Amino acid sequence: MLIRTQQNGFNHPLASDITPKSMVLQRRSWLLAAAAAGATWATRDALAATVAPPGKLSALPGKPSAVPGASTGEAVASYDDATSYNNFYEFGTDKSDPASYARSLKPRPWSVQVEGLVNKPGRFDLDALLKLAPMEERIYRLRCVEGWSMVIPWVGYSLAELIKRVEPQGSAKYVQFVTLADEKQMPGVRSRVLNWPYVEGLRMDEAMHPLTLLAFGMYGEVLPNQNGAPLRVAVPWKYGFKSAKSIVAIRFTEQQPKTSWNEAAPQEYGFYSNVNPQVSHPRWSQANERRIGESVGLFAKRRQTQMFNGYEAQVGQLYAGMDLRKNY
Ligand code: MTE
Repeated sequence: MLIRTQQNGFNHPLASDITPKSMVLQRRSWLLAAAAAGATWATRDALAATVAPPGKLSALPGKPSAVPGASTGEAVASYDDATSYNNFYEFGTDKSDPASYARSLKPRPWSVQVEGLVNKPGRFDLDALLKLAPMEERIYRLRCVEGWSMVIPWVGYSLAELIKRVEPQGSAKYVQFVTLADEKQMPGVRSRVLNWPYVEGLRMDEAMHPLTLLAFGMYGEVLPNQNGAPLRVAVPWKYGFKSAKSIVAIRFTEQQPKTSWNEAAPQEYGFYSNVNPQVSHPRWSQANERRIGESVGLFAKRRQTQMFNGYEAQVGQLYAGMDLRKNY
């Protein structure tokens, strides 16, 4: 984001990433059979979301979520778009780098250290986290501060499920996410483009909001490496960089924690980073956005960006009385 490249346009997937048609058809017929058999989660949305992946990764289905606002009803991005146009600077700064280089990331074995101001700190193994709460499918808009957006069907559960279990103390006001920074698995960590590890944070009420998702999968499968395997957060009303990928620690703090982009360019990236079409980034207007997968070029359709990315009804009250120009 900090760096401007010649390659800000959309990169087409490699031929090797394109799913053989026979595989898609095979999967589709399996899903239709499941739907016919009365599988309740196989709603139209879930079908639309689930027919797309190549089926190379393990299945991770989720029931449609009952959390208000959890499904946009908009068309989801193609799996190829969602997995070939990424920001994951640990693998390089170009949009195509994560898809090219994230194969070296080992998402298993994996554990997450939960620490700081909680009564029950500890190390949670990935398998324990996968079983901690029922998996839900949530179809969220992701709006990047660079001016593009995508709709992605995530699989996971509210971060609040984990937070409740570790019993935060009264003094815990913020949550920080610390992500993996391993040179051996992540070639981009050798560059100094950011101070590693990539860290992000939320205020406690934001972290506890039911829309804040701890995501383990997308499109009915486990997360591909380039999308933040094996677990990440997805905070749909904030710019995409708040949604930290490949998390290794979650810290509960009293003071507002450090975040990577705020540290790198505080005048450009604030702690809150709520999607707000009225507050421009110094280099990019936030008034509208390009939906990945839609037309490209001079006459590309642009959509108006919505306040809080369209989640105002659910999250607006978290910011009542705050000056959102100062708290950008
Ligand atoms: N998490 C880590 N660890 N490293 C990153 O570089 N990039 C962020 C966010 N999480 C990033 C990260 C940015 S800028 C965006 S827009 C989203 O991930 C992109 O998520 P996606 O590639 O799954 O669409």
